[in-house]
This record gives sequence, structure tokens and C-alpha cells, in this order.
Amino acid sequence: MSQASVTAPSWVIVGTGAVGSILGARLIQQGQSVHFVLRSPAESQPMQLIVTGHTEFSAPIKTHTAHSLQLIPPQAVWVFAVKAWQLEDALSAHGPALQQAQHIIISHNGLGAAEAMLQQLNPTQLIDWVTTHGGWRHSPQHTEHSGLGQSWLGFRHSSPRPTAPTWWPLFANALPPAEWHTNIALRRWHKLAINCAINPLAALANAPNGELQAPQYQGQLQAVCEEVAAVMAAELNLPVSASELLAQVQQVIQATAKNINSMLQDLRAQRPTEIDYLNGFVHKKGRQHKVPTPVNTMLWKEITQV
Ligand code: PAF
Repeated sequence: MSQASVTAPSWVIVGTGAVGSILGARLIQQGQSVHFVLRSPAESQPMQLIVTGHTEFSAPIKTHTAHSLQLIPPQAVWVFAVKAWQLEDALSAHGPALQQAQHIIISHNGLGAAEAMLQQLNPTQLIDWVTTHGGWRHSPQHTEHSGLGQSWLGFRHSSPRPTAPTWWPLFANALPPAEWHTNIALRRWHKLAINCAINPLAALANAPNGELQAPQYQGQLQAVCEEVAAVMAAELNLPVSASELLAQVQQVIQATAKNINSMLQDLRAQRPTEIDYLNGFVHKKGRQHKVPTPVNTMLWKEITQV
């Protein structure tokens, strides 16, 4: 489908988190209409968004708060690229407006966030975005796009609409490489394995991800992957190779060797971490399926106590 033949929606990005800011900047650069929804009127003063690194952007943006949502056109595509623990509040703050949304794109590390609330939405609206882009914020206005990654998007409930929405080429052109996926659950579990292995271990070591190349971490990395594979197999009812998960983990450790991962960034900034949606989620699902998860459970508890 050529870009000219696509009806462009309005894009609504909730917050100015790193991933949302990168996408918003890229969409604006492609001439798209992007609205940022911020928490308080104080935040939404005429705002200049700056993105540096792999995206170079500096321009005023359109901002709204809960009070001016009526100015956002219906049939917009909403993007919630927030921390897993922020998702429930972010969704409930915009409940009525979301009923008019064309699609709602969700992106966070881990699984299991705001599940009850998401079940109340029309299942054909809900899209998951798995991404390996790296970013961090100098300030709410200024994001550093530190790692050029890729994206996979797909409907959370693959039927009845397995094909990509008409706006898909606009997203894919703005932030390539991006792939439409008809079974996004698989991608989400693979990313879960990566985050369960890397984030808590590097966070406890208080070191960049590359530290995990040292021999003393190999046993725990392997154990995390074996447990995630067993829980994933039980949950999705299909065979899962722990060694493939481990190979992906090793590849991401190498590719992001210099990164301070998001969990360590959260701990250093004294913010809540996403551990309940990572190793805590594996622990919870393991109990449901009677699959033992001792290493994930230990890492969940250790990070909770930091
Ligand atoms: O959470 C993160 O920091 C990232 O998902 C990853 C891939 C582990 C790189 O640091």
C-alpha cells in the first residue's frame, strides 16, 4: 500500500516517556498529526520536545490534559508507552476518550499489566508493541534515543482482525524497522525472557548489561531462560526451546553491553521497578501451572527488597 493512499489518523501519545517521545518525534517528522496527553496543566505549557541521539528532533508539540481531550479527533490511534505499573492509572484517566479510539497501542516491559481493565476494551482496538529501542530522559522535554532497535506490532487478540490496520505503513515508515506480527504473544514472551534474564541480574550487579558476559552469571541466565520456557510452554500450550531464549538473551547482552538497563535506571532514580511484571509474573504464572520457578522467584524477591 503506498503511503499516499493511506488515510492518516491523529496520533495520541500518553506522556512524554522515552519510547513515546521517540515515536511522536518520528511521526511529526513524517508530517503526521500528533497530540501528547500530559498529566497536569503545568506540564502542558507550550512545550518544545527535544530528541537527540538516533533521532534528531526539536520542535513545539501539541499538548493536552484530561480537560482538553474533547479537542482530540475521534478515531485517533492512542499510544500508551508507559511503565507497566503506570498503565492501569493511565488507561483509567482516559477511559471515555478511549471508547472513541480507532486503536490503542500498548508498549511496556513485561506481561500482565492492567489485565482486568484491558478486558473491558473492545478487543479489536488493542494492539501490542514490542520494541528494542533504547532511550532515557534528560528531562520530561528531552529524550535521548540511545539504542536503535526494532519493533513488532500485532493485535493482542489475533482474530477476528489478523491483518494490519490501514495506518500501519505510516508507523513502519516513521520508525523502521517495524514488522506486523500475527502472533504478537510469542514476541512478548521472548522479550519477557530477555528482560527477566538481563534486568534484575545487571541491576543487582549495579552495572551495564555487558557485565553479564562474565562466567559467574551464565548459570543464572540459563536457569531464568529454562524456567521462562517451561512457563511459556504451559501458558501458550506449545513447545518452547530454552536454548533459543538463552541465545536471544546473549545476543541482546552483547548488543546492549554499554546500556544501563531500565530496571537499574529505575532503582537509581528511586522509582518503582517493573519486576512484578517480569520475574514476578513468571513466578505467578508458574504457580498457576505448577511449574517451579525458583530463580525467577528469588530475583523477584531480591529486587523487591532493594
Ligand atoms: O529494559 C531494558 O533496559 C531493555 O529492554 C533491554 C533490552 C534489557 C536493554 O537494556
